[in-house]
Amino acid sequence: MPLVSTDENPLIPYQHAMPKDALPEIVVPDAVPMDERIWVPQTDSVSFRPLCLNVSQGYWMNMLRVRKSGVLSRHRHPNAVHGLVIKGRWHYLEHDWVAEEGSYVFEPPGETHTLVVPEDVDEMITYFQVNGVMYYVDPDGNHLGYEDVFTKIDMCRKHYEEVGLGADYTDQFIR
Ligand SMILES: [Fe+2]
Repeated sequence: MPLVSTDENPLIPYQHAMPKDALPEIVVPDAVPMDERIWVPQTDSVSFRPLCLNVSQGYWMNMLRVRKSGVLSRHRHPNAVHGLVIKGRWHYLEHDWVAEEGSYVFEPPGETHTLVVPEDVDEMITYFQVNGVMYYVDPDGNHLGYEDVFTKIDMCRKHYEEVGLGADYTDQFIR
């Protein structure tokens, strides 16, 4: 018995409403934006672009951009991270592999690492799903600070207000 019936037109859309409690979808046509104002700066060399700021499950999807020999501070992940390298190349001080353009990376819960962009790469952009928190530490693992979806939202609101897009520009990414 076929999994999909062959005696009906496959181009007929689903005939019923979506569940009334379902959240609206997000469609971002310029996931890697040309408008510089959309990049939210974290340091001189690191910025991010929000795609989905998920407050109901505590994760965020974003493009991370690191320019010329940038470093993303040492941090621990209690939850899994998924990454897809869109542009450039990077590595962690703690591992001997290199994430090249086009690479997919899974980072298991328990990872502590320091992301470095090599000197010959002007710019790297990676699509990351970060779950839970980024827990910033010193080399011995002592706590220095953290980021979660709520600190990300605060950063977005502050930045978008400052650049004239308005703090509520952030709202389209929140679910
Ligand atoms: Fe990380």
